[in-house]
Amino acid sequence: MNVTRRDFLTAAGGLVAVSSLPSFAQDDPSFFGSRGSGHRIMLAYQHIDAGATSPFSILHISDTHLTAAYPEEGEGKMQAHHRRIRTFGGYQEAALRDSLAWAKRSADYVLHTGDLIDWQSEANFDLVRKYYGAEMFGTLGNHEFYTYLPDEVHTWKEPFKDRSWPLLKDVYPIGLRFSARTINGVNFVCLDDVFGTVQPDQVELFHAEAKKGLPIILCMHVPFFTPEIWRLRAKYRAPRNAKFREASLMPPVKGDYRRQQEDPVTRDFIAYLKQEKLLKGILAGHIHITVQDRFSPTAMEYVVGGNFLFHAQEVMFT
Ligand SMILES: [Fe+2]
Repeated sequence: MNVTRRDFLTAAGGLVAVSSLPSFAQDDPSFFGSRGSGHRIMLAYQHIDAGATSPFSILHISDTHLTAAYPEEGEGKMQAHHRRIRTFGGYQEAALRDSLAWAKRSADYVLHTGDLIDWQSEANFDLVRKYYGAEMFGTLGNHEFYTYLPDEVHTWKEPFKDRSWPLLKDVYPIGLRFSARTINGVNFVCLDDVFGTVQPDQVELFHAEAKKGLPIILCMHVPFFTPEIWRLRAKYRAPRNAKFREASLMPPVKGDYRRQQEDPVTRDFIAYLKQEKLLKGILAGHIHITVQDRFSPTAMEYVVGGNFLFHAQEVMFT
């Protein structure tokens, strides 16, 4: 199919009103059989004073990591299914369903900041279609681009994504690389930074949004790392080295954080954002822990933990 640059930069998306969500069963009696209505998701509460014309709330989820595959998709996909379900536990779909049910009851909008699927499969894509329906919300994650087939080599560079654009465009009805939507006077800007970096055309589009003069909430998959968020990510990922004393040390800068420091476009964009007074907050995921830190004088960055562990954060905007 033919995907134009404009299509995947600006298609409508970003957030969805909970009123347009389908209704899902709020509990599956086969697990957590006795839990009550307050025990379905692990919730953090945040408040961003962005200057909204009237208050509203968003349920922010990220990193559901669905690992479904149909047997007819072949041995490679079934191996990935068996291998990765051991990483993410097998209750990811229930976590997503419970999160959406919670949102429908408790919040005004839902935002998903990527890694909804762990890798590309027909079964995973069918789940995306089932739960997001016609109105998609949020951003992609790095895992939206993976196949987990044995011959795949991850490059964490833009051309790696090229194979996937037509596929994802068919399944995810969002602006795949950039979208913006205003709610009660607050401009939510969603962008693809799934390998840690942003591209010049995205920066250009962001500046066009800033010209509107509205308060901005930046939504993306990979956080723009602060030293503290990077330190806590390292602590979480290396439990055997995570005693308090060692964990207080700054770990080596590598991966996404290093690319953010070394890529000139991303480095300059982050420097610009730090002095952009319209920026009132950043919502991100990817590192699977709920953590927040000050990003700039006007903006906190709120990272939400893995939805596969039933994590979510409810953000109130005033
Ligand atoms: Fe990720």
